Amino acid sequence: MSDYAPLRRRFPRPADIVPFLRLKSHRGMPRADRRVADAHSIDDLRSLAKRRTPTGPFHYVDGGADQEVSLRRIREAFDAVEFAPRVLRDVHEIDTSTTILGARSELPFGFGPTGGTRMMHAAGEIAVARVAERAGIPYALSTVGTTSIAGLASAAGGARRWFQMYPLGDRDRSVRMLDEARRHGYDTLVVTVDGPVVGNKLRDLRTGMSYPPQLTLRTFLDASYRVEWWMNLLTTEPYRFTYEEDDAPRSQLATVSGFLDNSVTFDDLAWIRETWDGPIMLKGIQTIDDALRAADAGVESIVLSNHGGRQLDRSRTPLNILQPVATRVGHQVEVVLDSGIRTGADIVAAIALGARFTLVGRAYLYGLMAGGEAGVARSVAILRSEIERTMALLGATRIDELTPDMVGLLPSRLS
Ligand code: FNR
Repeated sequence: MSDYAPLRRRFPRPADIVPFLRLKSHRGMPRADRRVADAHSIDDLRSLAKRRTPTGPFHYVDGGADQEVSLRRIREAFDAVEFAPRVLRDVHEIDTSTTILGARSELPFGFGPTGGTRMMHAAGEIAVARVAERAGIPYALSTVGTTSIAGLASAAGGARRWFQMYPLGDRDRSVRMLDEARRHGYDTLVVTVDGPVVGNKLRDLRTGMSYPPQLTLRTFLDASYRVEWWMNLLTTEPYRFTYEEDDAPRSQLATVSGFLDNSVTFDDLAWIRETWDGPIMLKGIQTIDDALRAADAGVESIVLSNHGGRQLDRSRTPLNILQPVATRVGHQVEVVLDSGIRTGADIVAAIALGARFTLVGRAYLYGLMAGGEAGVARSVAILRSEIERTMALLGATRIDELTPDMVGLLPSRLS
């Protein structure tokens, strides 16, 4: 006989069972929204994206260069973050807004430039910009985007638009692009400097990633259960790259690398400055020395970035040099960080360590691939709630209350 008291039981009543039977209510929601509403993290959106997007474009987004050492390390660096929360602070109201380059952003991150966005989902850049507009955050259109400068401006006129430039071999074309961006209300020029040549992405070589997608037996089988992606591709306007002139023959589309000018140096910032009268952000700075040179060159902002581990493999992990760079040049230029951000806590950590602002790339592209515009909106909702919760748990109610003493980087995990 047991020493312990038995459970006191009674006969179940139907009314007791009902609450357990309540079905999840997504009634009235369109299908794409329903799918993404069940994603509770960027990783969940990534899983959904993988199911819904053909292998080629999915891995184009998901992968990194060569052995993907940089790609792993940018995540490990964020995993090595240890927070030092302050308790018993009044955190009933959290304000996530900040300013970047003279204008307000409702959240401490923006959408970084990503090329070929319509390859990931036909809704492409316009979906991303529309979400940025509603969220009150900036979005940078890429030179190798798949929507025109004017088209994006007319589809999301209220979004804060930045233009990302890869200097082109044809400098006149670069100048015309910048004029066009200015005329269409893009307020900041992001000059990406970590891509004199295109990184070697082994996954793309293996999946045969190409545009237009080649129909082989393999891609046909791959497509068979991603019908919606193909329907979207085939029933929407074929795209051109952003850098192409409207009247350029389509045959010029095939390669991007031939269009890039990889002879540019710090000296070229002079003509860029002459052509562009707004703020300039140099994206892809990876050493303290280059951060100092950029500050001396008179740009308004730098992005510490290794392009999400997509260019030089084993390159510097931006988070690891953030604090010294912010200390040295933070008073001269606005220091932005990207590469590896997958959670709102990552963003909070970067801000606490001295970043003025952050950019995300894959975090919104997974959303886009998972469910078009609704998926991008879900990415923002997830990151926003993670930022708010992390701030509350850290005892901070405003972005400027996030300070380096709240974050440690566990040395054992540092690369
Ligand atoms: C990029 N990135 C990028 N950067 C840029 O300046 N111009 C570009 O055209 C592109 N294209 C591009 C395509 C894809 C598919 C990805 C994933 C990234 C880099 C991007 O702006 C950003 O630096 C990284 O994405 C940041 O890393 P996370 O957030 O993706 O880890």
